[in-house]
Amino acid sequence: MPRKILVTSALPYANGATHFGHLVEYIQTDIWVRFQKMCGHECWYICADDTHGTPIMLRAEQEGITPEQLIARVHEERLRDFGGFHVAFDNYYTTHSDETKQLAGDIYARLQAAGLIETRSIEQFYDPLKQMFLPDRYIKGECPKCGAKDQYGDNCEVCGAAYTPAEVKNPYSVISGAKPELRPSEHYFFRLSDPRCQDFLRHYTREAGRLQPEAANKMQEWLGQPGENKLSDWDISRDAPYFGFEIPDAPGKYFYVWLDAPIGYMGSFRNFCDQRGLNFDEYWKPDSKTELYHFIGKDILYFHALFWPAELAHAGYRTPTGIFAHGFLTVDGAKMSKSRGTFITADSYLRLGLNPEWLRYYYAAKLNSSMEDIDLNLEDFAARVNSDLVGKYLNIASRCAGFLTKFFDGKLHFDAAQPMRAAAVEQGVLAAKSYEAREYSRAVRDIMAVADRINEAIATAAPWAVAKDENKRAELHDICSRALHGFYVVTILLQPILPVTARRVARELFDMQRDFRWDDLDAMPSRVAPYTHLMQRIEPQQIAALVEANRESLAPTEAAQFPQLPQKDKMQTDALINIDDFAKVDLRIARIANAEHVEGAEKLLKLTLDLGTETRTVFAGIKSAYDPATLVGRLTVMVANLAPRKMKFGLSEGMVLAASGSDSPGIFLLSPDSGAQPGMRVK
Ligand code: MSP
Ligand code: ZN
Repeated sequence: MPRKILVTSALPYANGATHFGHLVEYIQTDIWVRFQKMCGHECWYICADDTHGTPIMLRAEQEGITPEQLIARVHEERLRDFGGFHVAFDNYYTTHSDETKQLAGDIYARLQAAGLIETRSIEQFYDPLKQMFLPDRYIKGECPKCGAKDQYGDNCEVCGAAYTPAEVKNPYSVISGAKPELRPSEHYFFRLSDPRCQDFLRHYTREAGRLQPEAANKMQEWLGQPGENKLSDWDISRDAPYFGFEIPDAPGKYFYVWLDAPIGYMGSFRNFCDQRGLNFDEYWKPDSKTELYHFIGKDILYFHALFWPAELAHAGYRTPTGIFAHGFLTVDGAKMSKSRGTFITADSYLRLGLNPEWLRYYYAAKLNSSMEDIDLNLEDFAARVNSDLVGKYLNIASRCAGFLTKFFDGKLHFDAAQPMRAAAVEQGVLAAKSYEAREYSRAVRDIMAVADRINEAIATAAPWAVAKDENKRAELHDICSRALHGFYVVTILLQPILPVTARRVARELFDMQRDFRWDDLDAMPSRVAPYTHLMQRIEPQQIAALVEANRESLAPTEAAQFPQLPQKDKMQTDALINIDDFAKVDLRIARIANAEHVEGAEKLLKLTLDLGTETRTVFAGIKSAYDPATLVGRLTVMVANLAPRKMKFGLSEGMVLAASGSDSPGIFLLSPDSGAQPGMRVK
């Protein structure tokens, strides 16, 4: 029985470039949708740009264009980027649409009729210069806990404390620099604290299949015990100026972006239904027999697992069948970083001519159904793709197809096709289970095991040797037919991940007029065309070029922070800096918590530095002067705001200060007078 399935990925904000982190989600979803379609299900993949909110409004203003112009431009970029990675949406729309506006108004009215909307006056920070209320992220000031300067209005990046903007000391507006003042304003709330919402969510979040186990646990934590009433009402309005939908009958009040964003899923689908003549209500009515799945990142679970189902349930719509959260992408084991060149944009990758299927394959090989973060290790990326796709998969066809076309006119011959078909179907069942359960890494492992077995059989049978003996043509025909059947099977199994290669294999090698379907596993190919080259290996230079293209140069700031001392260490007046330049260098007292030799490094010691609130790893060129054992426990001075640098041996997150002269030998690590504590600023 074909299922009817509606699938979404989170709607990306319409500012900023598409990056490798985004792609984790869109590729993950695309693979799942392609698999469902191959199985013959009616499965629609819907997405849109998330276009509203303060950041988009201010960004447009900064660029001197209207928000409409900004979101139109980003829309084009998104289509280009996602299309470039073969992410095949059935509809990619925008939340700034009549459909979404109408649905948002409708849902709001129904919630209001249900008694779940309330207005309340709240005090909020207001920027008197810019004349607007400020979101927490636009207020900075001193951390109320540790006193660190220039911290955001909601949490401190130095000590990790969380607080409200009202607690920040000496607050200022990030937009104008003005001192914000508290002003009252009428806000609209969705009454999540209402017992109806709490009871509904307590059941919903526990129902089988709705949430991953770790997500369900998190929700129970947020919900608390029955009767505990831990959820607070959700502020769904913002005051003008705001880029969004004005709340019906409330002039000057706008829906908060997170109110209309998920409704954008529905808006995009309505737009699609209108184009295709599909029945929108069949998918969204409360007792719908269709399935609805949201693929999202773990950072937006709260919105999707609490607010969104509660809204839908009380506005007379169906709720999501399942919410699938994935983890965050790290590159080479660390958060993506512009200075390290690991904040990689989709566009840079495509421009450099790298093959998008390489990344799709690597992500698939790493993804599973959990919310764990996934790491893109750039060296491993190249090694894995080259060994699996080129070395194992494509190698099957490139080694055997030639004999078939040369000696047998491309015809395949099987003495006993039935057991081969049965084996293929069985492998299909195994892979299908993994795809369905989003256990792509398991699917890839099993599929590559099939490829391994085929390669072993080829190696044992040695068709290149058999081909030399004219009396062994039947044997050669058998060996190569089996190998090509294996290639056919592996291609079908990989098609959700490698749609373009699979399409070429279908059309160019097996002379089919369409893409593979899952039930093609139960058929035998009869002919093969001469092998055409299908995929290049990744060259190390391509990876280097990718990192280089994404490295945001720090050269100007580095130069400002560390003026080159003139030759012979003589000070020259034109190299003088002012006090502000000096203040940019964040010097701190650090305690050397650990020191050790680095294998293979001539000059470096690896230091673990304790800054009181955090520890850093620094590679210091002091091996010639210090025995690591004598360093442990002593205090020194470090540059704490130096951009991290990737070295051969790992990431260096700062620098310790030492004296050395060009004429006399020796390196002399700085020490503070006694009494200094780790983390103290040196100024
Ligand atoms: N606009 C909201 C979503 C609204 S859905 C009704 C949003 N946009 S986003 O552009 O910030 O992120 C889009 C998706 O990409 C989110 O699911 C987010 O978790 C995901 N990712 C963004 N950066 C990511 C990584 N570094 N790694 C993995 N996924 C990440 O959130
Ligand atoms: Zn702090």
